[in-house]
Amino acid sequence: MDYARKGYFITGTDTGVGKTVVTAGLTGVFRHHGIDAVAIKPVQTGAVIKNGKLIPEDAFFYRLAADLPQPIDQLNLYRFVPALSPHLAAKLCGEKIEPEKVVAFCRQTLLCHQLTFIEGAGGLCVPLSGPNFTVADLARELSLPLIVVARTGLGTINHTVLTVAYAKSLELEVAGIVFNALGQQQLGPAESDNLEIIAQMTGVPILGILPHLSRVNVEGGAVEGLLEAVEESVSWSQLAPWLKPKA
Ligand SMILES: Nc1ncnc2c1ncn2[C@@H]1O[C@H](COP(=O)(O)OP(=O)(O)O)[C@@H](O)[C@H]1O
Ligand SMILES: [Mg+2]
Repeated sequence: MDYARKGYFITGTDTGVGKTVVTAGLTGVFRHHGIDAVAIKPVQTGAVIKNGKLIPEDAFFYRLAADLPQPIDQLNLYRFVPALSPHLAAKLCGEKIEPEKVVAFCRQTLLCHQLTFIEGAGGLCVPLSGPNFTVADLARELSLPLIVVARTGLGTINHTVLTVAYAKSLELEVAGIVFNALGQQQLGPAESDNLEIIAQMTGVPILGILPHLSRVNVEGGAVEGLLEAVEESVSWSQLAPWLKPKA
Protein backbone atom coordinates (compact mmCIF):
# COMPACT_ATOMS: atom_id res chain seq x y z
CA MET A 1 0.00 0.00 0.00
CA ASP A 2 1.51 3.32 -1.09
CA TYR A 3 0.26 5.53 1.71
CA ALA A 4 2.31 8.45 0.41
CA ARG A 5 -0.20 8.92 -2.41
CA LYS A 6 -3.09 8.75 0.01
CA GLY A 7 -2.44 11.67 2.27
CA TYR A 8 -0.34 14.25 4.04
CA PHE A 9 0.84 14.74 7.54
CA ILE A 10 0.26 18.33 8.67
CA THR A 11 2.78 19.63 11.12
CA GLY A 12 3.75 23.11 12.23
CA THR A 13 6.66 25.13 13.48
CA ASP A 14 4.83 25.40 16.80
CA THR A 15 1.48 25.01 18.46
CA GLY A 16 -1.08 27.68 17.55
CA VAL A 17 0.37 28.41 14.08
CA GLY A 18 -2.76 27.42 12.18
CA LYS A 19 -2.42 23.69 11.51
CA THR A 20 -6.10 23.08 12.21
CA VAL A 21 -7.25 25.98 10.04
CA VAL A 22 -5.05 24.88 7.13
CA THR A 23 -6.00 21.19 7.53
CA ALA A 24 -9.72 21.97 7.59
CA GLY A 25 -9.41 24.37 4.68
CA LEU A 26 -7.50 21.96 2.44
CA THR A 27 -9.91 19.13 3.25
CA GLY A 28 -12.90 21.32 2.49
CA VAL A 29 -11.48 22.53 -0.81
CA PHE A 30 -10.75 19.00 -2.04
CA ARG A 31 -14.22 17.88 -0.98
CA HIS A 32 -15.72 20.85 -2.77
CA HIS A 33 -13.97 19.59 -5.91
CA GLY A 34 -15.48 16.14 -5.61
CA ILE A 35 -12.59 14.35 -3.88
CA ASP A 36 -13.33 12.10 -0.90
CA ALA A 37 -10.98 13.91 1.48
CA VAL A 38 -10.97 13.64 5.25
CA ALA A 39 -9.01 15.17 8.12
CA ILE A 40 -8.12 13.43 11.36
CA LYS A 41 -6.53 14.45 14.63
CA PRO A 42 -5.39 11.22 16.26
CA VAL A 43 -4.33 12.83 19.55
CA GLN A 44 -5.97 15.99 20.91
CA THR A 45 -4.95 17.76 24.09
CA GLY A 46 -6.69 20.84 25.44
CA ALA A 47 -10.04 19.16 24.75
CA VAL A 48 -12.98 21.02 26.27
CA ILE A 49 -15.94 19.74 28.25
CA LYS A 50 -19.33 20.82 26.92
CA ASN A 51 -22.59 19.47 28.29
CA GLY A 52 -20.65 16.80 30.13
CA LYS A 53 -18.93 15.57 26.93
CA LEU A 54 -15.27 15.76 26.07
CA ILE A 55 -14.93 17.71 22.81
CA PRO A 56 -11.84 17.40 20.60
CA GLU A 57 -12.05 20.88 19.08
CA ASP A 58 -9.84 20.37 16.04
CA ALA A 59 -11.91 17.45 14.76
CA PHE A 60 -15.12 19.42 15.35
CA PHE A 61 -13.67 22.27 13.35
CA TYR A 62 -12.79 19.96 10.42
CA ARG A 63 -16.32 18.61 10.45
CA LEU A 64 -17.79 22.07 10.36
CA ALA A 65 -15.42 23.68 7.86
CA ALA A 66 -15.13 20.74 5.47
CA ASP A 67 -18.68 19.47 5.96
CA LEU A 68 -17.47 16.02 6.97
CA PRO A 69 -20.17 13.41 7.57
CA GLN A 70 -18.08 11.18 9.85
CA PRO A 71 -18.91 10.85 13.55
CA ILE A 72 -16.30 12.49 15.76
CA ASP A 73 -14.85 9.16 16.92
CA GLN A 74 -13.74 8.49 13.35
CA LEU A 75 -11.85 11.78 13.29
CA ASN A 76 -10.17 11.63 16.69
CA LEU A 77 -8.83 8.71 18.74
CA TYR A 78 -7.37 10.12 21.98
CA ARG A 79 -8.55 13.31 23.69
CA PHE A 80 -7.41 14.88 26.95
CA VAL A 81 -8.38 18.03 28.84
CA PRO A 82 -4.94 19.30 29.93
CA ALA A 83 -3.52 21.64 27.29
CA LEU A 84 -0.11 20.00 27.52
CA SER A 85 2.14 17.75 25.50
CA PRO A 86 0.19 14.51 24.81
CA HIS A 87 2.54 12.27 26.83
CA LEU A 88 1.98 14.39 29.95
CA ALA A 89 -1.72 15.10 29.35
CA ALA A 90 -2.36 11.35 29.09
CA LYS A 91 -0.32 10.64 32.21
CA LEU A 92 -2.21 13.24 34.24
CA CYS A 93 -5.46 11.61 33.11
CA GLY A 94 -4.22 8.18 34.19
CA GLU A 95 -4.09 6.96 30.59
CA LYS A 96 -1.43 5.82 28.16
CA ILE A 97 -1.22 6.58 24.46
CA GLU A 98 -0.52 3.35 22.62
CA PRO A 99 1.56 3.94 19.48
CA GLU A 100 0.15 0.87 17.66
CA LYS A 101 -3.41 2.14 18.19
CA VAL A 102 -2.52 5.60 16.84
CA VAL A 103 -0.83 4.11 13.77
CA ALA A 104 -3.70 1.67 13.14
CA PHE A 105 -6.27 4.48 13.45
CA CYS A 106 -4.41 6.57 10.86
CA ARG A 107 -3.87 3.63 8.47
CA GLN A 108 -7.52 2.66 8.63
CA THR A 109 -8.51 6.20 7.64
CA LEU A 110 -5.90 6.32 4.85
CA LEU A 111 -7.32 3.07 3.45
CA CYS A 112 -10.91 4.28 3.46
CA HIS A 113 -10.55 7.65 1.71
CA GLN A 114 -9.04 9.13 -1.42
CA LEU A 115 -7.09 11.74 0.51
CA THR A 116 -6.41 11.97 4.25
CA PHE A 117 -4.88 14.91 6.10
CA ILE A 118 -3.48 13.96 9.49
CA GLU A 119 -2.79 16.74 11.97
CA GLY A 120 -0.05 16.16 14.51
CA ALA A 121 0.12 17.89 17.90
CA GLY A 122 2.38 20.92 18.33
CA GLY A 123 5.51 20.43 16.22
CA LEU A 124 7.61 17.47 15.08
CA CYS A 125 9.52 16.92 18.35
CA VAL A 126 6.45 16.71 20.54
CA PRO A 127 6.30 13.36 22.38
CA LEU A 128 3.02 11.51 21.82
CA SER A 129 3.56 8.66 24.26
CA GLY A 130 7.13 9.50 25.33
CA PRO A 131 10.58 10.11 23.84
CA ASN A 132 10.36 7.03 21.62
CA PHE A 133 7.11 7.97 19.92
CA THR A 134 7.00 11.58 18.84
CA VAL A 135 4.93 13.35 16.19
CA ALA A 136 7.84 12.83 13.77
CA ASP A 137 7.90 9.10 14.59
CA LEU A 138 4.21 8.86 13.72
CA ALA A 139 4.73 10.64 10.39
CA ARG A 140 7.64 8.30 9.67
CA GLU A 141 5.67 5.21 10.60
CA LEU A 142 2.96 6.29 8.16
CA SER A 143 5.49 7.20 5.39
CA LEU A 144 3.54 10.33 4.64
CA PRO A 145 4.94 13.53 3.15
CA LEU A 146 4.70 16.54 5.44
CA ILE A 147 3.07 19.89 4.98
CA VAL A 148 4.62 22.42 7.34
CA VAL A 149 2.46 25.31 8.57
CA ALA A 150 4.48 28.35 9.62
CA ARG A 151 3.78 31.87 10.82
CA THR A 152 4.52 34.78 8.54
CA GLY A 153 5.95 37.01 11.29
CA LEU A 154 9.22 37.59 13.05
CA GLY A 155 11.02 34.41 14.12
CA THR A 156 9.65 32.29 11.33
CA ILE A 157 12.91 31.87 9.42
CA ASN A 158 14.58 30.06 12.28
CA HIS A 159 11.55 27.96 13.24
CA THR A 160 10.74 26.94 9.69
CA VAL A 161 14.29 26.14 8.61
CA LEU A 162 14.85 24.10 11.79
CA THR A 163 11.61 22.17 11.30
CA VAL A 164 12.49 21.30 7.70
CA ALA A 165 16.08 20.40 8.63
CA TYR A 166 14.85 18.10 11.40
CA ALA A 167 12.33 16.47 9.05
CA LYS A 168 15.02 15.88 6.46
CA SER A 169 17.40 14.48 9.08
CA LEU A 170 14.77 11.79 9.70
CA GLU A 171 14.31 11.26 5.94
CA LEU A 172 10.82 12.68 6.06
CA GLU A 173 9.75 14.26 2.79
CA VAL A 174 8.49 17.83 3.05
CA ALA A 175 5.95 18.46 0.29
CA GLY A 176 5.54 22.13 1.00
CA ILE A 177 5.21 25.00 3.44
CA VAL A 178 2.00 26.96 4.01
CA PHE A 179 2.48 30.35 5.63
CA ASN A 180 -0.32 31.59 7.80
CA ALA A 181 -0.72 35.32 8.42
CA LEU A 182 -2.78 34.87 11.57
CA GLY A 183 -3.01 38.12 13.44
CA GLN A 184 -1.22 40.02 10.67
CA GLN A 185 -3.62 42.12 8.64
CA GLN A 186 -0.93 43.62 6.42
CA LEU A 187 2.05 41.84 4.98
CA GLY A 188 5.09 43.96 4.20
CA PRO A 189 8.49 43.58 2.53
CA ALA A 190 9.86 41.61 5.52
CA GLU A 191 7.31 38.86 4.92
CA SER A 192 8.09 38.46 1.23
CA ASP A 193 11.80 38.38 2.03
CA ASN A 194 11.14 35.73 4.72
CA LEU A 195 9.41 33.54 2.18
CA GLU A 196 12.15 33.92 -0.37
CA ILE A 197 14.95 33.17 2.05
CA ILE A 198 13.09 30.20 3.55
CA ALA A 199 12.52 28.77 0.06
CA GLN A 200 16.23 29.18 -0.69
CA MET A 201 17.40 27.74 2.61
CA THR A 202 15.07 24.73 2.63
CA GLY A 203 14.59 23.98 -1.06
CA VAL A 204 10.96 23.21 -0.18
CA PRO A 205 8.10 24.62 -2.30
CA ILE A 206 6.06 27.40 -0.73
CA LEU A 207 2.43 26.40 -1.26
CA GLY A 208 1.01 29.80 -0.38
CA ILE A 209 0.19 32.39 2.26
CA LEU A 210 -3.16 32.12 3.97
CA PRO A 211 -4.30 35.65 4.91
CA HIS A 212 -5.63 36.60 8.31
CA LEU A 213 -9.34 35.72 8.30
CA SER A 214 -11.31 37.72 10.83
CA ARG A 215 -14.36 35.43 10.53
CA VAL A 216 -12.47 32.20 11.13
CA ASN A 217 -11.99 30.83 14.61
CA VAL A 218 -11.33 27.25 15.67
CA GLU A 219 -12.51 27.63 19.26
CA GLY A 220 -15.65 29.52 18.29
CA GLY A 221 -16.50 27.21 15.37
CA ALA A 222 -16.44 30.09 12.85
CA VAL A 223 -15.59 29.09 9.28
CA GLU A 224 -16.79 31.97 7.09
CA GLY A 225 -14.61 32.50 4.04
CA LEU A 226 -12.08 29.78 4.92
CA LEU A 227 -12.58 27.53 1.90
CA GLU A 228 -12.58 30.46 -0.52
CA ALA A 229 -9.36 31.80 1.04
CA VAL A 230 -7.57 28.42 0.84
CA GLU A 231 -8.79 27.89 -2.71
CA GLU A 232 -7.34 31.25 -3.72
CA SER A 233 -4.15 31.45 -1.71
CA VAL A 234 -2.83 27.88 -1.43
CA SER A 235 -1.70 25.74 -4.39
CA TRP A 236 -3.92 22.92 -3.22
CA SER A 237 -4.35 21.25 -6.61
CA GLN A 238 -0.57 20.58 -6.74
CA LEU A 239 -0.93 18.33 -3.74
CA ALA A 240 -2.84 15.50 -5.40
CA PRO A 241 -2.74 15.94 -9.19
CA TRP A 242 -3.43 12.21 -9.66
CA LEU A 243 -6.91 12.72 -8.20
CA LYS A 244 -7.98 15.15 -10.94
CA PRO A 245 -10.44 17.40 -9.10
CA LYS A 246 -13.43 18.49 -11.18
CA ALA A 247 -12.91 22.02 -12.54
N1 LIG B 1 -5.58 32.69 9.00
C1 LIG B 1 -6.15 32.88 10.18
N2 LIG B 1 -6.94 33.94 10.42
C2 LIG B 1 -7.49 34.15 11.63
N3 LIG B 1 -7.33 33.34 12.68
C3 LIG B 1 -6.56 32.25 12.51
C4 LIG B 1 -5.93 31.96 11.26
N4 LIG B 1 -5.23 30.82 11.41
C5 LIG B 1 -5.41 30.41 12.67
N5 LIG B 1 -6.21 31.27 13.35
C6 LIG B 1 -6.61 31.17 14.77
O1 LIG B 1 -5.40 31.01 15.52
C7 LIG B 1 -5.57 30.05 16.54
C8 LIG B 1 -4.59 28.90 16.30
O2 LIG B 1 -4.92 28.25 15.07
P1 LIG B 1 -4.99 26.66 14.97
O3 LIG B 1 -5.35 26.32 13.57
O4 LIG B 1 -5.88 26.11 16.05
O5 LIG B 1 -3.46 26.31 15.29
P2 LIG B 1 -2.77 24.89 15.58
O6 LIG B 1 -3.68 23.83 15.05
O7 LIG B 1 -1.45 24.95 14.89
O8 LIG B 1 -2.61 24.82 17.08
C9 LIG B 1 -7.03 29.62 16.50
O9 LIG B 1 -7.75 30.44 17.39
C10 LIG B 1 -7.46 29.94 15.08
O10 LIG B 1 -8.83 30.23 14.98
MG1 LIG C 1 -4.64 22.18 15.96
